[in-house]
Amino acid sequence: MAKKKQATWGGRFSTGPAELMLTFSESVSFDRRLAPFDIAGSKAHAAMLAQVGLISARECKAIQRGLSQIEQQITAGTFVWRRELEDVHMNIEQALTALVPAAAKLHTARSRNDQVATDMRLFFKWACGEVDQRLAGAQRALLELAEQAGDILIPGYTHLQRAQPVQVAHHLAAYLEMLERDRTRFAAVADAANWCPLGAGALAGTTLPIDREFTARQLGFVDSRGRPRVTQNSMDAVADRDVFVEFATAAALVGTHLSRLAEDLILWASSEFDFLSLPDAFCTGSSLMPQKKNPDACEILRGKAARLQGNLTTLLTLTKGLPLTYNRDLQDDKPPIFDSFDQTVLALEVVAGTVQGTVFKPEKCAAAVADPALLATDLADYLVEAGVPFREAHHVVGAVVKLAETSRIPLNELPHEVVVKLHPALKADWVDVFDLQRAGQRRRGTGMPGPRQVKRQLTRWRRRLSR
Ligand code: ARG
Repeated sequence: MAKKKQATWGGRFSTGPAELMLTFSESVSFDRRLAPFDIAGSKAHAAMLAQVGLISARECKAIQRGLSQIEQQITAGTFVWRRELEDVHMNIEQALTALVPAAAKLHTARSRNDQVATDMRLFFKWACGEVDQRLAGAQRALLELAEQAGDILIPGYTHLQRAQPVQVAHHLAAYLEMLERDRTRFAAVADAANWCPLGAGALAGTTLPIDREFTARQLGFVDSRGRPRVTQNSMDAVADRDVFVEFATAAALVGTHLSRLAEDLILWASSEFDFLSLPDAFCTGSSLMPQKKNPDACEILRGKAARLQGNLTTLLTLTKGLPLTYNRDLQDDKPPIFDSFDQTVLALEVVAGTVQGTVFKPEKCAAAVADPALLATDLADYLVEAGVPFREAHHVVGAVVKLAETSRIPLNELPHEVVVKLHPALKADWVDVFDLQRAGQRRRGTGMPGPRQVKRQLTRWRRRLSR
């Protein structure tokens, strides 16, 4: 079972790892995607080593050139990844050393522990930008659908019971707000990642005279005024994974938001609601029932939300019991992060595509919103304006609703003489309350679904999203 000595750390071992151990412990199958960040980190580290005189300028150049060569091979797909070299770091270092003998000095004052922490922070800063672009794309698609919907009204729901009329655009704009907060969260994650761990070493720094600020500046770990940001405790730098948890949290929240949007779309596309039709391109058919058009994309979106929450749970559980500092368990922090990133990006693109092809059905929406009972609250407000305390008004309107229900007559068609007898404040104009236009125009306050407010919201989003 035993294999030859492991080249990088094999000095104190008499045999190499068992085949099964290699299979079990390798991470190169998933961490190879860190290669661009690992190479950038190594180039900066080499520059720093030259800067402080630990390697010569010539050695630094050779190392950097070799790293560029390896990067090209990786991009071209010709680089040979070797499982027995465990991870992305050792694969690149060994290939580099074969090309450039001076690369044997590259690991000076560095450990894979601060190296992987650096790679991941670089990854997070990049990934947050990628997710932000997709969030903006999904927002743009939602905004366009909201604009197309014009002043179409639908019932707004609480408890999935028809509650009050709202503009479709207002309902969609609720998701614009949620996705905007998601963008803020990802920006905060990128900021939290913006501290350079290089120099923390394995856990206790180094005795060598390195320049951490130099490396940080090289890698763009700087604040808004260009000052370097380096981690302030070497043990924290290699042990904690809170940025991972924050990233996974932000992703899980995107998943949750998209899942609720997906659920709204699924309901609205059902024959029971029938407010809209979803694009064929994001639906599928049934292998058995020829008439079916299933909202699979939306259903999968709900599924992805569960998966994103699972990744968050994995990371929280992975770290909670570990003594400081680095423990190999932490290697398993990467698959959930990469999965959260990949699935979030995909989900946002799918949402954008689905929303882009969605078409509302104005007549069906109008029919759903025609029930005058949706404006029962407006009748209570009418009484309040006449000086009736709200609780009493609520009670009176309850009686009107009950009357409509028992006599099976729509609220606004109840005989006038009967209604006005229910309360002295109910005057001849009580029935005007059931005008949807009036109901909209009266909702003038900030954030309300009146047409002017909704228009103002959409204008604000247009401006924000065309930047
Ligand atoms: N592949 C390892 C990981 O991702 C790199 C760090 C290894 N460190 C060590 N002390 N074995 O966790």
